[in-house]
Amino acid sequence: MEIKSLDEIKKECEACTGCNLYKTRTNTVFGVGNPNATLMFVGEAPGEKEDLSGIPFVGAAGKLFDKYLAAVGINRDEVYIANILKCRPPKNRDPKSDEEDVCIEYLRGQVRAIKPKMIVCLGRIAAARLIKPDFRITQEHGIWFQRGQFEICAVYHPSALLHDPRKKDAMLADMLAVKEKLDEMK
Ligand code: URA
Repeated sequence: MEIKSLDEIKKECEACTGCNLYKTRTNTVFGVGNPNATLMFVGEAPGEKEDLSGIPFVGAAGKLFDKYLAAVGINRDEVYIANILKCRPPKNRDPKSDEEDVCIEYLRGQVRAIKPKMIVCLGRIAAARLIKPDFRITQEHGIWFQRGQFEICAVYHPSALLHDPRKKDAMLADMLAVKEKLDEMK
C-alpha cells in the first residue's frame, strides 16, 4: 500500500468536499505536531476556535488539555494531535457516522505516515470509532487495547472535565499512566 506523506494528505483534506461540512467550514483542522511522534492524541472534531485557526485543541477544552500535558510532563511539540473529523460540525453537534466514514480515511493516512506506537483517544466519540463501537468511557477510560502495531486507550474528553470537574482526578491518573507508557516506548 502506498504511504502518502502528511503534506499530501493535508492537501487532499483541504480540498475535501466528501461530506456537507465543507460548506460551513472556515478552515480544515488537519492536525499538528511531530510527524515522527511515538504518541498521537485523537479528539472528536474542531470547535469554533479550531475552525477559525485551523489548529486542533486551541479553545477552552484545548487550554485545559494543555494543562494536563504540562502537569504530567508531556511536551505538545513531541506528540501529534488530530481529530476524527477535520471540519467543524455546525453548533458543535456530534459527528454523524457518514461524516466519520469519509473523514476517517485522512486519519488512517495520518496514522500510516506517523506510525505512532500509542494512540490516546480524547473522549467517547473517538474511542467508539477507534477502539470499539460500544466503548463505555466511564468504565473503560485508561484501559489499554492492543491494535496491530500500536496500543490504544481513551481518556475523558477535556470538555467533559469542564462540565464535570469530578472527573479530573481520573483524568490526571490516566494521563500520568500515558506519560509512564510513553517513557517506556521511546
Ligand atoms: N474538541 C475536539 O474534540 N477537538 C478539538 O480540536 C477541539 C475541541
